[in-house]
Amino acid sequence: MAVASPLESCKVYTPSILARAMVSAIYEGGRQRWLEPSVGRGVFVWVLREKGVSKQRIVAVDLDTDATENDKRATVIRGVDFLEWSNNTRRRFDCVVGNPPFVSIRSLPSPFKEAAARVHLDGGRPIGLTANTWYAFLIRSVTLLKHSGNLAFVLPSACEYADYCQPGRNAIAQMFERTDLIRSRRPLFDGVQEGTAVLVCRNKGGGHGLFRRHEVDNLDGVIERLTSLDRRTARNCPNGESDGCLYREKLGSFIRIGVGGVTGDARFFVLTESQRREFGLPVRCLRPVVSRSRHVYRASMTLSDWHRLLAEDERVWLFDPPPSSLEHPAVVSYLRLKEGNGGCRRTAFKVRHRVPWYRTPMPRRPDGFVSGMTGLGVWICLNEMPRLNATNTLYVVHFLENLSRAEKCAWALSCLTTPAARCIRRATRVYADGLQKIEPGQLARIKVPRPPHLRNSVSLYRQALQELLDGNELGCRAIANDAVLNSRWDG
Ligand SMILES: C[S@@+](CC[C@H](N)C(=O)[O-])C[C@H]1O[C@@H](n2cnc3c(N)ncnc32)[C@H](O)[C@@H]1O
Repeated sequence: MAVASPLESCKVYTPSILARAMVSAIYEGGRQRWLEPSVGRGVFVWVLREKGVSKQRIVAVDLDTDATENDKRATVIRGVDFLEWSNNTRRRFDCVVGNPPFVSIRSLPSPFKEAAARVHLDGGRPIGLTANTWYAFLIRSVTLLKHSGNLAFVLPSACEYADYCQPGRNAIAQMFERTDLIRSRRPLFDGVQEGTAVLVCRNKGGGHGLFRRHEVDNLDGVIERLTSLDRRTARNCPNGESDGCLYREKLGSFIRIGVGGVTGDARFFVLTESQRREFGLPVRCLRPVVSRSRHVYRASMTLSDWHRLLAEDERVWLFDPPPSSLEHPAVVSYLRLKEGNGGCRRTAFKVRHRVPWYRTPMPRRPDGFVSGMTGLGVWICLNEMPRLNATNTLYVVHFLENLSRAEKCAWALSCLTTPAARCIRRATRVYADGLQKIEPGQLARIKVPRPPHLRNSVSLYRQALQELLDGNELGCRAIANDAVLNSRWDG
């Protein structure tokens, strides 16, 4: 009887056009010995045979006991757990290619769960139950590679940001002469969100540890990159720590970054001017806020900018009645509204635990605002309006030192330079649905060049950011690099 794979959901097969490009990216002639660690009825083996690799030089493994056409084309080892098998085999390979299962280790049945959780990087701790099976496959596959060996794997988008694979992200690139990660903004498989990246590691033990991340639109873009890897340079900076810029500071060493006020029920608490009028609420029971990424698409937010948003009927009022307004009839009725009639969802976690329930705890007046989800990168919108605050769709920043407006603009300009933008891009998570997001903790670790004293930093920052917002990234970088790095950055 066939051993039912615990991983039915992972049976997503690589399109042959992608399999062919992945094989070609690491193929160095017919004498290489190949491993496909989770072959299923997939096409990698077929592509290898098409390339002229003999049956004897291809080993393929699968948990599934049902034979497929692949069994005629390669030495297929069936009904075994690759992770267990890889521990015991003495075989070593010149190339590993595949599309490993993307299944959380915790959800595997025993004994697969235990075998996967035990996998560890050389000298490191076991990856544990919180990791994913693909990571265990990647580690074990790298181990089975000979000196000078190559690997090409399809991976999920989580490979770029998941905490469980952070040790591997740093260590694996160091083991190879060159590693390329090609990230597609759209999924590579029909009807499946995961599977958006292709990892290519070449020349194990060959020194250098060069790394390059590529971001492309779709499968066609991935294939184009796979066929042109050697025409593109890579840098010796897998974790984005070093790219030749000497005087760099972590963003977190000069600003504190947090989230805006968490209302618990934005529909009730965050209002437009027409809603305020409709409910007859007096201005004194509201405070001005910014609540959307688009509100901070500017270098600074002044009173007149905020009034423009108000006139455009954006949601820029936060309902926050002070004790002196609690007797106002409109405030009394607004507070008493039933949930079904536009009233507050009092059972919401954040609302039900605070006293009084209608007071949203707000950060102290921010020095600036940042959106973590613009797709354009990160910039600081400096707060030049008294009392203005933000809700938690935005991050709020506070400079740790008392800086002049010009000094704040100089730091903000520094965040627009090429080295800072690169770090930001690397730290940005691109989710399977294409959403791009950077978390406050990651932002705090971004390194930016310390800016020199700049007399015209305010106007330079405005100009540079306007270029970025107008879609001219090169123009933006040129202004920021010229001013902050004092020389053109050729990246
Ligand atoms: C995502 S499919 C990949 C198939 C093929 N590599 C491709 O890309 O077209 C995953 C395959 O992994 C196999 N598999 C899952 N867990 C496994 C394990 N622990 N050891 C070996 N094979 C496994 C499944 O049976 C399935 O055939």
